[in-house]
Amino acid sequence: MFENDNKVHILDHPLLQHKLSILRDERTGVKEFREIVSEIAALECYEATRDLPTEEVEIKTPVATGTFQVLAGKKLAIVPILRAGLGMVDGILDLIPSAKVGHIGLYRDPETHQPVEYYCKMPSDISERDVIVLDPMLATGGSASAAITFIKGYGCKHIKLMNVLAAPEGIQVIRRDHPDVDIYVAGVDEKLNEHAYIVPGLGDAGDRIFGTK
Ligand code: PRP
Ligand code: URA
Repeated sequence: MFENDNKVHILDHPLLQHKLSILRDERTGVKEFREIVSEIAALECYEATRDLPTEEVEIKTPVATGTFQVLAGKKLAIVPILRAGLGMVDGILDLIPSAKVGHIGLYRDPETHQPVEYYCKMPSDISERDVIVLDPMLATGGSASAAITFIKGYGCKHIKLMNVLAAPEGIQVIRRDHPDVDIYVAGVDEKLNEHAYIVPGLGDAGDRIFGTK
């Protein structure tokens, strides 16, 4: 469905698919669920940072001096959407320890399925940073779209969205509202149900990460 859309990166690596299948299993407990969400975020991060610029530096190895690549100092921020996005933070910070972390709190109104904002705290220099927005689930797309609109309000120009699992409806909303944003996701499921849950999905990501159900 999104094969020809170069802004939608469906990451079909076998390791990601295997880990996503473990998340889907209703028997997977909180500890394992949390660990795997973090691992998936790290694996996705590898793809989402593929275009980071590098520069050449001279390094003296124990054998000889050579010219080698290092990151060019591009500033990054990650912004988890509370709560479930928090589960992706550590996996990314393991790879990019210098990234700053903003937080945006949104929940879906259970009746209207519309996002309601309740918290926001961004790094003071967020406008100078490339931003990766984190949320395991992209269902209707309402939460992620609102979060991206909010972050753009700070002047951010380069924003990516990283999810574990999406519904086609959510991807379409992000493509419509934010055509400049690249989406990285490990799976795209069939549809949403009448409660706007992804089918077959993996259930409520926040509840499964934090053990609240
Ligand atoms: C979940 C999920 C996303 C949102 C996705 O959060 O983590 O933020 O739903 O749905 P949408 O694409 O239809 O907006 P939820 O509102 O359940 O809050 P929580 O993370 O605090 O559990
Ligand atoms: N939020 C979740 O946590 N799961 C879904 O399937 C949809 C929204």
